[in-house]
Amino acid sequence: MDSRIDSVSPLDIVPLASDPLNPDNSGAASESAEQTFDPALGPSFGRKWNKDEAISFYNMDGWSSGYFSVNDKGNVIMLPQGEGGPAIQILDIIEDIMQQKIGLPCIIRFQDILRDRVKRLNETFQKVMSDLKYQGHYRGVYPVKVNQLREVIEEVLDAGQPYHYGLEAGSKAELQVVLAYNSDPEALTICNGYKDSEYIRLALLGRQLGRKIIIVIEQPTEVAETIAIAKQVGVMPMLGIRGKLATKGSGKWQMSGGEKAKFGLSLSEILNAIECLRDADMLSCLQLLHFHIGSQITDIRTVKEAIMEATRLYTSIRKKGAPLDYLDIGGGLGVDYDGSQSNSDYSMNYSVEEYVSNAVSNIQQICDEESEPHPHLVTESGRAITAHHSCLIMNVIGTNSAKNKGPLTFPASLELSEIVQEMKTLLSAISPKNAQQTYHDAISKREEALNRFKLGLVSLEERAAVEEILKEIRSWILRNRKRLRRLSDELEELVEKTGVQYLVNFSVFQSAPDHWAFDQLFPIVPLHRMLEAPRKSCSLVDITCDSDGIIDRFIARRQAYQSGLWLHELNGRPYYLGMFLTGAYQDIMGDLHNLFGKVNEVHVFCDDDDPEDFYIQEVIPGDTIKSVLEENQYIPGELCKFLRTAVEAKVKEGKIKPRDGVQLVDFYEHVMQGYTYLRN
Ligand SMILES: Cc1ncc(COP(=O)(O)O)c(C=O)c1O
Repeated sequence: MDSRIDSVSPLDIVPLASDPLNPDNSGAASESAEQTFDPALGPSFGRKWNKDEAISFYNMDGWSSGYFSVNDKGNVIMLPQGEGGPAIQILDIIEDIMQQKIGLPCIIRFQDILRDRVKRLNETFQKVMSDLKYQGHYRGVYPVKVNQLREVIEEVLDAGQPYHYGLEAGSKAELQVVLAYNSDPEALTICNGYKDSEYIRLALLGRQLGRKIIIVIEQPTEVAETIAIAKQVGVMPMLGIRGKLATKGSGKWQMSGGEKAKFGLSLSEILNAIECLRDADMLSCLQLLHFHIGSQITDIRTVKEAIMEATRLYTSIRKKGAPLDYLDIGGGLGVDYDGSQSNSDYSMNYSVEEYVSNAVSNIQQICDEESEPHPHLVTESGRAITAHHSCLIMNVIGTNSAKNKGPLTFPASLELSEIVQEMKTLLSAISPKNAQQTYHDAISKREEALNRFKLGLVSLEERAAVEEILKEIRSWILRNRKRLRRLSDELEELVEKTGVQYLVNFSVFQSAPDHWAFDQLFPIVPLHRMLEAPRKSCSLVDITCDSDGIIDRFIARRQAYQSGLWLHELNGRPYYLGMFLTGAYQDIMGDLHNLFGKVNEVHVFCDDDDPEDFYIQEVIPGDTIKSVLEENQYIPGELCKFLRTAVEAKVKEGKIKPRDGVQLVDFYEHVMQGYTYLRN
């Protein structure tokens, strides 16, 4: 992480008028329906710009899985039940949020989408199993670590209740949650992760309550420990084994699979475990085989290979006398973040239906060949359950794009300066043919100006003029890049780095940590003005003082990614962006960089009586400054006392009037009670 420079100089920011209740949501329908997208300014298609063009331009039909679209007013809508079902304008929710004085950034959780994801997965398994006459049941579990928020767990369990949908825990803390919540005796609880004796005892406690809690042995040492504790407590556990498959995942999270994986037993360790359990008279406890080859599996062929390898392992273990009857195929079901339906790192080349059919039919076929019963199937899909339901709403608070200043003019004294003259000549002669050369010459002139400045031969004003002309040259290249015959890597980088930056009220580190850590892409779109063609290719800089706090890679329609997001020109009215598909792993892994804390959250449901209405069932306030300070061992009362003492001293010295002193202390205390982000 590089914290040397602010990404945007505050001097460059063109602030917006702050009337949050009055965003430009008209969509400028009358004129914009006729607008065309200017190919010289953006990706080269010259069709009429309208709602359908916007949907396709932002690839919404690719990544939204039918949950998001654009309405005739040009506003983004949420469709929890797909086309024809209820349609909620996200802008209306923002208006409600603002009226309730809930600040942005704010996460909107669409609880109906969460429920729909659980339903879709379970019903797809049920349908495929019934079509194929598969003999086992589907008993999915939701891995708590993907989004541990209480409201998420409650909603998932409630929606999954008709299917006996269970939970997976990977730590003692998660198991405490799961033990308290997962009370359905038919639903599974899968215990993964590193375990100490307390973890194992907690799991056995669940067995004493009659729950189907399966302790999955992930390390060779856990075999003897589990046997010993179970004997001490006098409870027969349900056990599973996590196998290390040779098949590796595909995509960014493939390290969970393969022989070097952190978790799981090798083949010889599995054989040893079977013998240990047999010796302890506990082989009958071994009921589940588990594998997990990584999150976000991008290629269906990988799913198939892993399933085939694991099913052979399953039937082989059964033939050794262990009565396995669950096969747990782990997580990994992907999310199509870029909407490309390909095996790119941010996508998947299969649908949920294909994933399920592939799993069920291959397991069935191998078990039939081996004359073994079809196992009950367990999945631990997390990302595919929670990603879609959560969207981060952010407001753009300014831009560094310079207003068109017109031709560059300098005072007469500067016009006489040799170096300024030389730079002006470069600028006036620039053309598509010589752009690269001109850029190089201008860069060397800037260095020359710096060197001569150090020797006192060039004035501050001359250097400033040279910088301004260089900016003009860059800006010419940016405007004319489509006309350049070839964009060298250097110019490509220049174009990327000198594009417009929109300053957005959020922290990448808190709300999109996977973007910072892994370059994970999330779809980001304007939430309104979609009937207007976007005119600016932007990167998004956050409000942390860190140059890594930037999003400059975005999903693209015809390439792996693009370095600018096409957005509308700021017009002095609030401009809102949504970062979608953030419900898995993001909010729970975010950190307090610069002490920007957890963001506000609202949980939205559709109103059953009105297909365009909604209600906010719950508001979870984000961190206040006071709470993030406390989290870092500060004592807010003490800080206030220190400040008060300092003010009182100045009052005594007569430097501050007593009444002003009181107001200063009140102000300090008031700010501490507030939100950590910029006020909207
Ligand atoms: C053991 C295990 N199960 C399930 C998951 C969830 O995976 P996903 O979110 O890709 O479905 C993970 C995450 O990597 C995991 O490690």
